Amino acid sequence: MPRKFYVTTPIYYVNAEPHIGHAYTTIVADVFNRFHMVFGSKTFFLTGTDEHGDKIAAAAQKADQTPQEYVDRISQLYRDLWPRLNISNNYFVRTTDTQHKETVKLILSRVKENGDIYFSDYEGLYCVGCERFYTERELVDGKCPDHLTEPEVIKEANYFFRMSKYQKWLIDHIHKHPDFIRPERYRNEVLSFLREPLEDLCISRPKSRLNWGITLPFDENFVTYVWFDALINYVSALGYPDGELFKEFWPSVQHITAKDILKPHGIYWPCMLKSAGIEPYQHLNVHGYWNVSQGKMSKSIGNVVRPLDLENVYGLDAFRYFLLRDMVFGLDSEFSEDALVARINADLANDLGNLVSRSLTMVHKYFKGELPEPYFPEKEDEKLKTQALDLIEKYEELMEDLGFHKALMAIWEVIGNVNKYIDTMAPWVLAKTDKERLSTVIYYIFETLRIISALIWPFMPGAAEKMQDQLGLPRKGKDLKLKDLREWGRERPVKVLTKAPALFPRIETKKQERQLQQKEKSMTEKKLPLISFPEFQKMDIRVGTIRKAEAIPGSKKLLKLTVDLDEERTVVAGLVGYYTEEELTGKQVIIVANLEPVKLMGVESHGMVLAAEDGSGVHLLTPDAETVPGSKIK
Ligand code: MSP
Repeated sequence: MPRKFYVTTPIYYVNAEPHIGHAYTTIVADVFNRFHMVFGSKTFFLTGTDEHGDKIAAAAQKADQTPQEYVDRISQLYRDLWPRLNISNNYFVRTTDTQHKETVKLILSRVKENGDIYFSDYEGLYCVGCERFYTERELVDGKCPDHLTEPEVIKEANYFFRMSKYQKWLIDHIHKHPDFIRPERYRNEVLSFLREPLEDLCISRPKSRLNWGITLPFDENFVTYVWFDALINYVSALGYPDGELFKEFWPSVQHITAKDILKPHGIYWPCMLKSAGIEPYQHLNVHGYWNVSQGKMSKSIGNVVRPLDLENVYGLDAFRYFLLRDMVFGLDSEFSEDALVARINADLANDLGNLVSRSLTMVHKYFKGELPEPYFPEKEDEKLKTQALDLIEKYEELMEDLGFHKALMAIWEVIGNVNKYIDTMAPWVLAKTDKERLSTVIYYIFETLRIISALIWPFMPGAAEKMQDQLGLPRKGKDLKLKDLREWGRERPVKVLTKAPALFPRIETKKQERQLQQKEKSMTEKKLPLISFPEFQKMDIRVGTIRKAEAIPGSKKLLKLTVDLDEERTVVAGLVGYYTEEELTGKQVIIVANLEPVKLMGVESHGMVLAAEDGSGVHLLTPDAETVPGSKIK
């Protein structure tokens, strides 16, 4: 029996057009899904749109459309976008679907029968943007932390879900299943929230205030709160309770969301499932936020990055690669087009693209395009083989654990090794001296390329299949399974390998050229003397986590940072204007820890933060994975 895998994205609100944030989550889910496909699992991938509630009703009114007309239109934008990003979803759920509405009513009735719904007066602080009540404790300076607006005081009689009843069960469940919510920082966030008494959840809105929703099955004067409605999509789409899909896939469900909706997914949803008698999900996988110009993307600021704009200019696979390579799953990332171009040129055009094209050129030049047989492999050949086969194991582990960027780094390490292997073996010399040896070397190069093509497929399905066509492989895409890759030499090409245009053309941009020139200029201007290794060794450089960042009264440039280097210390840094205090808090940085203390604007600094400066600003150096504070840089 094949393993099962069911993955979901959040269902997106239809009050805004899709941007790279939505694209990222959906592409991650797609990569994860395709990875499980090549792994041999039977998969189901769900995405969709969330179409009820205040926000949608208001957006429809603003657009001068009925809510139904409006949601039909925007939902279609999402539905049309996904095929263009090569998203392999099996189903697209809408909360206005009849099947979904019926399932919400069924679950509400079940939860009520269990005695978990009651009617009561309530006065609370309500954020329209989030469509939920906030407790005083959750507000920051009296404002919603996400929307930075003051919530309204709303008093009304409503239905409540007895969520408090499940608090203890949920805490136990999280402790018993340490990777229920991952990465760990989000599990800890949920556990820390659960340290305070959990309040019951208001799950209705009176129709006098909001009409656009699913009528409660037990009181037609109320509609269902949008979150109670929306979360149920994950089971309604599978035909809960009797659907075959539900029976087959629910036990293996993994949700993917960003950190903004941790609470509904980490707390409301498991409690709702428990109350309705449905098994909890397997994993909630939570990622960070893509920021632009060091801030949140927003329509009003006008910095929204639209996925199709990038896809049009740079190509879909390059865009997908960049998103997965540059974000550490779980942490925030800064989006920049320059970084995208740099990645395309270095990793895709140079490393991988050149490797494929030089290999194909050789097989054409020396063997008329037909892959030769290996003769007697030598140590170097076996080493490459081991690296390639080990890569499959490592890749599996990393991918299961959502280490997408690490999986890509591991693949690129092997790509680098093949490039080095070619340089060392110098097939152009062997062509003149030793044809048998040349055959073996070419064979080993192509076997490794075959593995690489399959491992990059989940990330870049288009480019991988093009590469597999060029390699003449009999099976490609989802049909080339990881288990078959483990057998060296099993997947022989069926035809002559084709010579084809470059997989990833280089992208030259004026801006990049300018930056490069600037960099070269500053290097020649400031040529520093060489230092010896013992001199370098005198430096104590460490990873630190910024615990607090504060302005220094009277200084326009400097911030006072409290940095955790296993012990706390104060470091002063000229970061004003480049980073906000909020962005710095929690950030990992690199610190020169043994500099003589110096007093700056009255504050004694015990170290220096490392940052790079170019034409576009100051960029802090940061480890590429969460690192224990105080770790030494070697
Ligand atoms: N409708 C709810 C979800 C209900 S799920 C039962 C909702 N919709 S949303 O349209 O606001 O989408 C939020 C999700 O979009 C985030 O959790 C994340 O997946 C994605 N992103 C939106 N902006 C993002 C970034 N800037 N960066 C990364 N992902 C972001 O919440």
